[in-house]
Formats: sequence, C-alpha cells, structure tokens
Amino acid sequence: MVYNPKMRIIAGTSNPALSNKISKFLKKPLTKTNIKTFADGEIYVKIEEDVRGDDVFIIQSTVSNDSIMELLIIIDAVKRASARKIIVVLPYYGYARQDRKADARESITAKLVANLITTAGADRVLGMDIHAPQIQGFFDIVFDDIWAFPIFVDYFKRKKLTNLVVVSPDSGGIKRAVFLGKRLKSPVALIDKRREKHNQVAEMNIVGEVKGKNAIIYDDIIDTGGTICKAASALKAAGARKIYLCCTHPVLSGDALSKLNASDAVEVLVTDTIPLKPIGKVKILSLSSLIGQAMKNLYENKSISILKKEIDKSVWKKWIKKD
Ligand code: R5P
Repeated sequence: MVYNPKMRIIAGTSNPALSNKISKFLKKPLTKTNIKTFADGEIYVKIEEDVRGDDVFIIQSTVSNDSIMELLIIIDAVKRASARKIIVVLPYYGYARQDRKADARESITAKLVANLITTAGADRVLGMDIHAPQIQGFFDIVFDDIWAFPIFVDYFKRKKLTNLVVVSPDSGGIKRAVFLGKRLKSPVALIDKRREKHNQVAEMNIVGEVKGKNAIIYDDIIDTGGTICKAASALKAAGARKIYLCCTHPVLSGDALSKLNASDAVEVLVTDTIPLKPIGKVKILSLSSLIGQAMKNLYENKSISILKKEIDKSVWKKWIKKD
C-alpha cells in the first residue's frame, strides 16, 4: 500500500498575516493550535488536530527570543504528535547576523539557534534571504534558502526606471546587489561601511559611479536604519538622483521607521517576512506566493532551485499581482 502523507501548515504567532496569505495561496487551512502564555511567561502549545504521519510545515519568523522558544515548543509538540516530517519555514531567521567570532569570547548565535531547531526535532528548514549563505551549513539538516530579489526586479521593471545603479550598502551584500543589478541590466556600486560599535555606522565610502544616476540601495535587513539611511545620504552627497531603498527583512528597531521616512529616499520597499504596517514612504511587497510555492515543491519532492531560475516567467508576475 502506498502511503500519501497530508500537507499540514502550522503558524507560530510571530507573523499571522503572512501565514494566512501562504495558507490562502496553497488553498490549505492552517492546522488548529492552542498557543498561549502562562502567568509566569512560559509558553504552552497544543496541536488541536491529528497530524500523525503527516508532513508538517511550521511557519515562524524568529523575530524575538519568545518566538524562538515558541518555535522550539511547536516542533516538540508536532514531533510528539508523530508527524512524518517537520519542515520549519523561517521567513526571517533572527540571530543570523552573529555568524562568526568577530572578537574574543563571543558566541556564534547563528549556529546556536540552528542547533536548537535541529535538536528540537526539525527535519528540514526553508529560509528566505538568509544573512550569509554559509549559515546553511550551520544546520546538520537540509537548509533551503530562497531569494526575495525577483519581487524587487518585478517592481522596478514596472516602474521603467532608466539610468540605474544598484548599490550594496556594505561588502557582505555585494552578491545580492549583483543579482538584482544583472536582472535590471544595471551597473553595481558598493559602499565600504565601517562600524566602531554595534548598531552604529562610523564611516562610508562609495566605490563606483553614482553621479546623475537613479540608485537602488539593496540590503537584506534594515534594523536601526543607520546603514541604509546613511548610505542614502552618502549617495545624495555624491550626486545621485532618485534614491530607492529596499530590503527583505524590515526588523525596524527603535525609531527606524521615522528615520526611513525622513531619509533622502523617495521610496522604501520591504517584504512581509516581519509584520509591519506601511507608513509614508514605506511599501510592503508580499513573499507569500514565493514561500508558498517553495513549500508546495518541497511537499511534492520537486526542485526548489527551479524557483530561482524561472523568475522572469509570466507565472511569477501572476503571483505577484495576486499578492
Ligand atoms: C549587516 O550586515 C546587514 O546586512 C544590515 O546592513 C544591517 O543589519 C543593518 O543594520 P542597521 O539598519 O541597524 O544599520
């Protein structure tokens, strides 16, 4: 007898809007759960439906310490409910930026959290624009990383901007900028960013031609907004014309949203890997179709890399419009 496991989707509490959109895209309801916090702050999880023998996708952006703990507890509950496979979908992987010992006696949290997810019982992870590709190897289970840049390509193509330059605000993001630049047939510039303290940018030097050009600054994360807003000012001072900011993960700590709205940019494009209300210059592009399709491919044992190759085909445009 051939056994066909059911596809199940469980949403953590960190990004309900994205989880609901993914469930709508896949035409599969979210599996019912009871997730609550006890008086002392401990998290309680019960899976309210039978998931025995099923392939269970758990969607959670690890945006806070509690969301990591909640994810681990959901994985544990699903494992104890006898699921066949547990696939963790991490639209945003928090703690990924501490991916090496930059100084003595520091932790490597990207590895620590990978260990926690694996030990809790995940069989596989689906990530989105992970901070550095080598983090995939921090997991001893398969980690698939998909990219958000196709939706930015589509957005900027529809704007029909000319005389463009795509700018990476630091050396770590150059590959990302090259991918976007190639698709938009635009040259790429780089900003040499120096930090003296965590969360504070000390110095920026532009490498490449930006004078008289419309610039798109592309980063994976906007946290305090320091990097991207300073990069916008540096480009403006160097004679760039219209400046667009875009990033995949809008962490937006503290007053980042006001900083972005007061920046030299005409528009700020972010995705919905982290929940946010669009305000002023900030626009949100949804990744629900892209993530949903990747989940479907994994469930059906189909290639994920195909999603990176076929990005210009009409099917993508249809999905993006649906969002
Ligand atoms: C750093 O390597 C990342 O790619 C981002 O540039 C950084 O996290 C942005 O942080 P902030 O907005 O606080 O400058």
